[in-house]
Amino acid sequence: MTLAPAPPYRSRHRSIRRGLTAALITAATVLLPVTAAGAAPTGTAVAAASPTLNELAAAKGRYFASATDNPELTDTSYTATLGSEFGQITPGNSMKWDTTEPQRGQFSFAKGDAVVSFAQAHGQDVRGHTLVWHSQLPGWVSALPASEVRAAMESHIAGEAGHYKGRIKAWDVVNEPFNDDGTYRTSPFYNAMGKDYIAYALQAAHAADPGAKLYINDYNTDGLGAKSDAMYNLVRDLKAQGVPIDGVGFQAHLAVQYGFPTQMQQNLQRFADLGVDVAVTELDVRMVLPADATKLAAQSDYYRRVTEACLGVSRCVGITIWDYTDKYSWVPGTFSGQGLACLWDANLQPKPVLDVVRTALGATGSGDTTAPSVPAGLTVTGTSSSSVSLSWTASTDSVGVTGYDIFRGGTQVGSSTGTSFTNSGLSASTSYSFTVRAKDAAGNVSAQSSPVTGATTAGSGGGGSLKVQYKNNDSAAGDNQIKPGLQLVNTGSGAVALSSVKIRYWFSGEAGSSNYSAWCDYAVVGCGSLSQSVSSSGSSTAGADHYLEVGFSSGSLAAGASSGEMQLRFAKSDWSNFSEADDYSRGTNTSFADAPKIGVYVNGTLVWGAAP
Ligand code: XIL
Repeated sequence: MTLAPAPPYRSRHRSIRRGLTAALITAATVLLPVTAAGAAPTGTAVAAASPTLNELAAAKGRYFASATDNPELTDTSYTATLGSEFGQITPGNSMKWDTTEPQRGQFSFAKGDAVVSFAQAHGQDVRGHTLVWHSQLPGWVSALPASEVRAAMESHIAGEAGHYKGRIKAWDVVNEPFNDDGTYRTSPFYNAMGKDYIAYALQAAHAADPGAKLYINDYNTDGLGAKSDAMYNLVRDLKAQGVPIDGVGFQAHLAVQYGFPTQMQQNLQRFADLGVDVAVTELDVRMVLPADATKLAAQSDYYRRVTEACLGVSRCVGITIWDYTDKYSWVPGTFSGQGLACLWDANLQPKPVLDVVRTALGATGSGDTTAPSVPAGLTVTGTSSSSVSLSWTASTDSVGVTGYDIFRGGTQVGSSTGTSFTNSGLSASTSYSFTVRAKDAAGNVSAQSSPVTGATTAGSGGGGSLKVQYKNNDSAAGDNQIKPGLQLVNTGSGAVALSSVKIRYWFSGEAGSSNYSAWCDYAVVGCGSLSQSVSSSGSSTAGADHYLEVGFSSGSLAAGASSGEMQLRFAKSDWSNFSEADDYSRGTNTSFADAPKIGVYVNGTLVWGAAP
């Protein structure tokens, strides 16, 4: 038998629950910023995209919701989006038993009331979470003799669901009743009553608030499997017995390293076919940090597939994300070394994955109408007789900068995904004016940056103008040889005497011998007409303390002509290894491309490339 993958979510939250008691925020202090103004606070607020997630979901007959928690409600930038983007909220902690009835018979609803008041002030529904759960359960319940647990449970439900009667759209009456293998989880309730506690709890909740939709909620039941089979059988039996159950909640605490739940839509559908609603109740998609493109792509894929699974099942009533921002996500505090699980980042900015969800909900266009900031700090970092190299400071954007357009004299001459660019093919001894603008995925562009002037150098005379192209002939970046492929190209209108030309390839020598040997393995012009040697550069730039210099003994390069490939190779005399990845002139391209970080000198003057 193969072992099932590690569960996406283990029930470790009891021991690491957030210290709510330390944050003794009363309902009054929480509510002041909201009710005093009568509306969501403005100022630092992040504007909601239009249509909002909830508007998009509503157009499909669903809601889109977020969890929240009392400490966050004092953060007005946070509440601006919480109050505008979502149609429903779930208190992440404030309606749990340890908060609402910490001592037997002593109810405390201030925190839950604050969440309900926020929702009412913003026209939102509330999902009640949760009445009966083995976790975040006060010690007095666990200490009761079995004979008293049912009465305590029913009294808790009557007290809490009764307090919120008429104000809760749906209750997670029972939370997490199963183990991952589909057996019933032991808890004070199961130990006292067996599985019948679930029916008793649902009946008590129905008696306390007949208008609320009553749910059982669990994790790792999102896809087909032993645990969702157990839930399915339970719900089927409860329905057959006439127990008031309206829905099943699927937490969907997903992690990219555990894979996507098996056939989620089919799984939701089989529950719907039992005659209950289904809801995604606690969605987040975490990853092991640091993020990389593969993990982020998987996360986008998971969010899209969960959204599509819900939209594909007519009885899937909506999706709740387990808080909307990485700023307040439970993930980093619960799953060590993991995070970035939410749709907004820790600065409350929308992440690209938000657009993925919006699109899955049927948004046309990204809804992103915010342009990136104007690139600042545009400077000339190098010139040759035929090129000007530029760099600038990265722009910021509400979703993400996807690249930059570079203009010369008002005409676009190129694009870059990074913050540097070399414009080649220019005339010698000429001044050019450059500007840069930033763009995002939705096609929004910033204004042009302040211009910078770059003047090409005098060039090599005779109308010649040189550039060097490079390809990497060395698949191993950590071995004892470096193998640049070079070719010299005359882009000018006159011939260039090759004996005046030197090409420099900068690299770092690392530890080991400071004596080098260099070879020409092949050259179209003939290795016999080349010289090659390694020297110390004196440069303190990283990856540039040495250079290979290639020279020519004779010949000339006609206008428009190329030298053809020159295969160079060099090594230290002790044959110790290099660490090439950071070398100044190195590229990973294996076909020839212009090499702005390899220098071409004519009679000792740099005419191409930026020297370190
Ligand atoms: C989490 C809260 O988000 C945390 O703040 C708390 O420390 C632990 O509980 N499944 C549930 C939720 O049903 O109640 C849990 O919420 C997350 C997992």
